[in-house]
Amino acid sequence: MNAFETVLYDKQDGVACITLNRPQKLNAYNMRMRDELYEVLGAIRDDPEVRVAVLKAAGEKAFCAGADLSEFLTAPSPIVARQVRWERDVWGRFLGVPQPIIAAVHGFVLGSGIEMALCCDIRIASDDAQFGLPETQLGIIPAAGGTQTLPRVIGRGKALEMLLTGSRLDSRQALYLGLVNAVVSRPELLPAAEKMARTIASYDPRAVRAVKEAVVRGLDLPLADGIKLESQLSANVQCARRLDK
Ligand code: COA
Repeated sequence: MNAFETVLYDKQDGVACITLNRPQKLNAYNMRMRDELYEVLGAIRDDPEVRVAVLKAAGEKAFCAGADLSEFLTAPSPIVARQVRWERDVWGRFLGVPQPIIAAVHGFVLGSGIEMALCCDIRIASDDAQFGLPETQLGIIPAAGGTQTLPRVIGRGKALEMLLTGSRLDSRQALYLGLVNAVVSRPELLPAAEKMARTIASYDPRAVRAVKEAVVRGLDLPLADGIKLESQLSANVQCARRLDK
């Protein structure tokens, strides 16, 4: 894969690792990062060797301090901005990755940073993490799914409080609300994410992908339809395993 400017990509023993890599700008999400993530996520989606992915960030201070404010509202026109967005639907691509993605977040997790983490399946935070959505304060609204993904994870009231007031959560509050699965010390963050990734990568990838699909698609279905989906996926996995013998 090409050398990237804003992200690092690495793959080892079935575990893909994406690192946001603009530490001097607190990993602010710029257009270059959008394009590079789009490519990397496509490569992960299409790579049968990748069983699970970890999304992390370089530098001590931040996972991601949100959209790059220096590019803010500088697109040639809203029509161009929208066109580019459709051509590079990085959020749709995040959500369409069939392998589980684990986010390992630290420091500032703001705006697009929290939205990226919400597009992942499991979130592990270090104890210094701070979560917030400052968009409304800036006179805009989140555009990377945050108004939809956040209430689905922490519920309507708390999500609206964060979105409307710009209040931040620390990692302990994030754990309490289920925004993150676990909180560990900063030195333990990557080892914890990698350990979980290796565990998942050690299982039959067909079962792993089917579980993710059942849960993710099922959440948008009425229960009876979700149970039918589970039966279908279960039959597919069993059939594939029988063919192995
Ligand atoms: N876009 C572009 N650059 C950003 C950025 C962003 N969202 N967030 C931080 N940076 C840059 C700063 O401009 C600074 O660059 P410089 O050293 O070239 O001047 C560098 O990252 C370090 O940030 P700094 O503000 O000095 O760090 P801090 O520890 O004092 O403050 C924050 C950290 C996160 C509180 C502060 O950077 C901030 O409020 N960032 C903006 C958050 C935001 O509103 N995001 C947009 C969401 S839509």
